[in-house]
Amino acid sequence: MTRVLAVETSCDETSVAVLDGTGDDVRLGSLVILSQDVHRIFGGVVPELASRAHLTAIDSVTRRALTEADATLASVDVFAATMGPGLVGALLVGVGYAKALAFARDRPLVGVHHMEGHLFGTSLEHADAVPPFTALLVSGGHTLIVDVEAWGRYRLLGRTRDDAAGEAFDKVAKRLGLPYPGGPHLEKLARDGTPGRIRFTRPMLRRNQAPGDKDYYDVSFSGLKTAAVNEIQASGAGHGPSDENQRSADIALAFQDALVETLVEKTARALEQFGRSRVVLGGGVAGNMALVAAMRARMEPLGASVYAPSSRLATDNAAMIARAALFHFERGHVAGLDLNAYASLPLPGLIA
Ligand code: KG4
Ligand code: ZN
Repeated sequence: MTRVLAVETSCDETSVAVLDGTGDDVRLGSLVILSQDVHRIFGGVVPELASRAHLTAIDSVTRRALTEADATLASVDVFAATMGPGLVGALLVGVGYAKALAFARDRPLVGVHHMEGHLFGTSLEHADAVPPFTALLVSGGHTLIVDVEAWGRYRLLGRTRDDAAGEAFDKVAKRLGLPYPGGPHLEKLARDGTPGRIRFTRPMLRRNQAPGDKDYYDVSFSGLKTAAVNEIQASGAGHGPSDENQRSADIALAFQDALVETLVEKTARALEQFGRSRVVLGGGVAGNMALVAAMRARMEPLGASVYAPSSRLATDNAAMIARAALFHFERGHVAGLDLNAYASLPLPGLIA
């Protein structure tokens, strides 16, 4: 058994987890997530404030994670941190902190790719969410469709050409007058929408696309976002009285439907091309019940199971980082004390 203590500070969550395990047999000892509230005032993450808040919180979050796991610092075998992609100033707090612990305790250090963490995250709650599988990672900064042949062997099939799924949710939600981050609020509002009253074009989704076409797996949400924003402006939605509220809900539903159908169809293409029987969702938007329900409805007739994380493990957390770190540690992938943080970073383990 290896005990990992991992730190995640890539954006606006300060999170630390303690995990024990060998191979796929893991036990999460604790997971502490502190969501930074300060950004609400600004309607988006302010990088400098995020770094400062991480710095203020990291030590107590770590102590709390150790206490909840009934563990001591001396019992930790490996220290890990998210090294990218993300806000570089925010990442540096976690990387610097994990580095200092590794140095002080004379233990190995592992740097983890944030999106690889999301690939592992769902398996902490669903023992069957293990490779081979088709993954859809949908967060505030990324939208990736990945064929996971094995842990550490990834085919990056598609990505967004512009806005990430969560980013599009947040921007449309903001125009609808909803609080930040808007994704969950928009989902809630969409429940009151009237199905079929408004319909937006499904972006980058045409029947005559074939594997090998550049847009077969890629997605694009900026046009859809603009269409929704134009509809909001044209109808005066997002500003108050009740028939305008109904209009807001109709727009929210139409936007969500178009985005969800696009993601579901692209994921189905990946599942069929590689003959997989599992779909694993990850990232904050994987907490969207409309997405999960539509994914199940589409995949189950194909004989595939869909695994979605709870919202606690869908959004940014250190448990997924600890899990990915265990995998890399077991393969000897340890970092030196010169480990750095990177705003953008290619997914490791890419195969053709
Ligand atoms: O993975 P995550 O916590 O952070 C990043 O790595 O970006 O994802 C955060 C994103 C935000 O854009 C948030 O609005 C979105 O996930 N999100 C949702 C839902 N819950 C979180 N979007 C749509 N529906 C939800 N229920
Ligand atoms: Zn994330």
